[in-house]
Amino acid sequence: MHFVDTTESNCYAVVEMNNDQPATVAVTGAAGMLGQDVCGEAPSWARVAPLTRDEADLCVPEETRAVLTAAQPATIIHCAAYTDVDGATRDPDTAWQGNVLATRHVRQAASSIGARLIYVSTDYVFDGTASAPYTESAPVNPINAYGESKLAGEREAMRVESHLIVRTQWLYGLGGSNFIAAILDAARSGRDLQVVQNERGCPTWTLDLARGIWRLLERRADGIVHLTNRGACTRLEMAQAALAEAGMDDVSITGIDSGEWPSPTRRPLNAVLASERLEEIGVEPLRTWRKALGEYVSLLLDRWED
Ligand SMILES: NC(=O)c1ccc[n+]([C@@H]2O[C@H](COP(=O)([O-])OP(=O)(O)OC[C@H]3O[C@@H](n4cnc5c(N)ncnc54)[C@H](OP(=O)(O)O)[C@@H]3O)[C@@H](O)[C@H]2O)c1
Repeated sequence: MHFVDTTESNCYAVVEMNNDQPATVAVTGAAGMLGQDVCGEAPSWARVAPLTRDEADLCVPEETRAVLTAAQPATIIHCAAYTDVDGATRDPDTAWQGNVLATRHVRQAASSIGARLIYVSTDYVFDGTASAPYTESAPVNPINAYGESKLAGEREAMRVESHLIVRTQWLYGLGGSNFIAAILDAARSGRDLQVVQNERGCPTWTLDLARGIWRLLERRADGIVHLTNRGACTRLEMAQAALAEAGMDDVSITGIDSGEWPSPTRRPLNAVLASERLEEIGVEPLRTWRKALGEYVSLLLDRWED
């Protein structure tokens, strides 16, 4: 065990190292929206083993075991998941395979190698009926197949002796399709915008979340931690903020209730996440959602112009 100063996090990281070599951290779902930022934000002490579907289909136990045994990671950051919420409603079996069986295979490999497992989870484990934000100790009660599968995935991850479950929500990032990019794309194509006004959450940039996950790992946080950009808003307010940042606030946008949106899935209305653990762990809360969104929109527009 060595203490290594990491300039990225400006704190002392406790890192397990073999023969003074950097610790290997395997990242599943490395080609996904969050996985790309987790790989890109790795601190210097970590040697990242990015795992995509090309390396292993995590639904296949032999492939999962083989790729993780070969990598011999000290830690696995499990970002891979079946993330199509409406798809999970229509086809719960496939969602179960992607979120529960795949996590079971990852946790079996983690246990046999002796690796730590970090599992990324979601506000969809809650029903969203509470009036106050949901902290880590709040009772879970998923109301759709996606939430059920992610909760069962959490329970798989908890069976690894050293585990961390990071619940987050309303992700957007440069590495994948997401709500904000879809809104701005629709606005610039001159389409009418209708956005749900009665769902509240914490919009979170995958870049900030990725940095936060590395800080939690460095602090050897365990159990469940909620991590989002700070503050909450409705979907409509999130869309309006994105349009304002893009200089498109003259675009017409109508607020609708979630029941008017054509979706087969019941979604939690007020599943705002909050953390009662970050301070005790010694990790700073992430910046406000509004600041993060401003920076993201400007990067996204630059990319679209190129
Ligand atoms: N997006 C959100 O708003 C949100 C909110 C809260 C929590 N989360 C959680 O955050 C995590 C990352 O989400 P994300 O938005 O970055 O998801 P994403 O962009 O959909 O990425 C998921 C990645 O996992 C891969 N994957 C899925 N099943 C696999 C399998 N059986 N074997 C190998 N690879 C597999 C996918 O590969 P393919 O593309 O080939 O399928 C994809 O690259 C997930 O755990 C998700 O539940 C997301």
